[in-house]
Order: sequence, then structure tokens, then C-alpha cells
Amino acid sequence: MQAIPQDPQPIAWREKTPFFQAGLQGYSDSPMRIIARRHGAPYCVTESLLDDILLRGGKGLRSQQLDPEDHPVAGQIIGTNPNTMARAARALLELGYDVIDVNLACPVKKMRDICRGGHLLSRPEAAIDILRAVREAVGDEAPVTVKLRRGYDDSVESFRNFYRVFEAVRNLGYTFATVHCRTVEQKYVGPARWPFLAELTREHQGFPVFGSGDIFTAKSIFRMMTETGVAGVSVARGAIGNPWIFTQALQICAGKDAASPGVHEQRETLLAQYALCVRLHGEADTGRSMRKVGIKMSSLHPMHAQVEQAFIKCRNNEEWLSVIEEFYGEGVGEAALGNPR
Ligand SMILES: Cc1cc2nc3c(=O)[nH]c(=O)nc-3n(C[C@H](O)[C@H](O)[C@H](O)COP(=O)(O)O)c2cc1C
Repeated sequence: MQAIPQDPQPIAWREKTPFFQAGLQGYSDSPMRIIARRHGAPYCVTESLLDDILLRGGKGLRSQQLDPEDHPVAGQIIGTNPNTMARAARALLELGYDVIDVNLACPVKKMRDICRGGHLLSRPEAAIDILRAVREAVGDEAPVTVKLRRGYDDSVESFRNFYRVFEAVRNLGYTFATVHCRTVEQKYVGPARWPFLAELTREHQGFPVFGSGDIFTAKSIFRMMTETGVAGVSVARGAIGNPWIFTQALQICAGKDAASPGVHEQRETLLAQYALCVRLHGEADTGRSMRKVGIKMSSLHPMHAQVEQAFIKCRNNEEWLSVIEEFYGEGVGEAALGNPR
């Protein structure tokens, strides 16, 4: 199979900002992505979107409408059947997504014989059929990328399967691959294996690989790049409740010290995400999504144990807003800011 030369433009952002906001099920919705962008993320990925749900239309598709501020963005699809995956890719292109990302990484246990996400790595031919169908359906209209795990498990067979799929990714003309260097079996437990990325980039020079795994600080983005040779880094759990990881990465790029956000900045960001949730998801759902954002962001607050408990107890928008008034009002917590995380 002939490699298709790619336009370097789709990932031009990586030259100056070699990091992006990862897909995160239950978190990386439009409000989180827009907040990440306002804090310096140049590119964002949706959570994995099940092909069948997108194709059913209705709310499943409507909820993926894009805001003009939310570009460039990759719509990530997950599924079992090459034909429905191809159609789901087309549905996202019609909604205005800039990039289509295929998920071969999700570790959620398969039901009966439904094999998708990372589980497809144990059936390389089925994975390649999906990769080919999506690539052909998108054609030259948009870049197509893939998210992979480093294998299904630690067996030699898994290792071979990974390379079989990875080589197909290259040959089919995918623009880049993001590799989460844990196995599917590992889920999110235990250390990510960075040396796997180093070996992969050594053996596949000239093809951009983005690394994923154990990125919890801005510094670790650059440490991963230095230690593994990846073209850039996907920031996942490290960005939940902490969009400043992107601001800090930009500061490091500019040779400056990375600054921690004060309580006032945290308040502004929480309220901005709240407003985006109201606008994009409707008022009724906002308390639920902002509760978990508050819980995660509380770790940056000087009174984090109390703030976390207060967010945990929130049941509606009013209670959430009253936590903001109590713990993020003028001057609150700033006195203790000598000790940020
Ligand atoms: C709650 C949660 C949801 C995730 N959802 C997705 C997803 O929808 N799509 C995806 O490609 N990766 C998803 N991931 C994987 C992350 O993008 C990332 O690869 C993984 O967390 C490893 O990076 P980290 O150790 O720096 O968090 C998810 C991870 C977590 C913890």
C-alpha cells in the first residue's frame, strides 16, 4: 500500500505548541474544550462518540454541535463496524469537525462479541478494516488520526498486533497517531511505559506520534518529549480541573517560570465554564457537570479539603454558585496563597 503524502497544515499548531487537550469521556465537552483553549490549548479532542448514537441522529448528534470558538477540534469515533464508523465520520464532517480521530484505545469491557476501542487491538485485521473505511470515507476533506494503546496486554502477540495496526495507520495516510503507553488490560492503573514511545519513535521516524500517559504537570509534557522523541503530548487527567497546565506549558515554551493560578483566577474560570455550560447544554444540566469540575479544581484552592467537601455536597446550580461565593469571593483564600499546589 502506498503512503499518501499529507498536508502538514493540519498540525501546524504543534510547531509552537506541541500539546493538546485529550479526549476524556464525561469531561471533554465543548465547555471544557473552550476553557482549555482560552488557557492555551491549541487543539482539542471530543470524548469518544459511539458511531451508532451519532447515526441515530436526534439528541446524540445535536449535542455534538460545535461552537465557533471550538476549533480546531477532532471528533473522536468509536465502534465495531467499518461501514457505520465510516458514516459516523461523515456525520461529524458535516457538523464542521476539522479532524476525525478513530478510537482504538478505550478499555471499557466488551459486551458479548462487541469488540471496539482498545479491544480491537487483539483483532488487528478488524481494526485495519475500520481504519481503511474511515480513511476512505473522509478522503482528502480532513485529516484522519488515531488513538491507540500500546497493546492489549504485555504478551508478544499483543506487541506484534500493535505494530501491525500502527504500520497500517501509516500506510493508509493517517496524519498522526496518539499512543497511550498503557495496555488495555492496565486501564489507567500503574505507570505509563514511556520507553515504549521512545522505541516507537526511533523505529518510525518521519511519522508524528503524540504521547499520552502520566502527564500531570506542564513540565512533564517537555520531559516526555525529551525522553521519548514524540512530536507532542496529549494532556488528559492533568487537564481535568486544571486548564492552567496549558498556560504553564506556554510559559515554559517562552522560557518563563510556570505560575500557579490565584483564587480569583480560579473563580473567573469556574464561572466562565459555568456560563458556557448554561449556554451550550442548558441550565438544567449545568449543576451536574460543574459539580465534578469544582471537585477537581478544588485541589488548587488553599482550603482544598473544605472546598472539595462543599462541591461534593452540591445538588443544584444554586448550591454550586453559593460554594463560589463562600470560597472564591473577593479576598477569600488569597491570604493562604503562599502555598499553592
Ligand atoms: C475519565 C477518563 C476518560 C477518558 N476518555 C477518553 C476518551 O473518550 N477518548 C480517548 O481517546 N481517551 C480517553 N481517555 C484516556 C486519556 O485521553 C489518556 O490517554 C489517559 O488518561 C492517559 O493519560 P494520563 O495518564 O496523562 O491521564 C480517558 C481517560 C480518563 C481518565
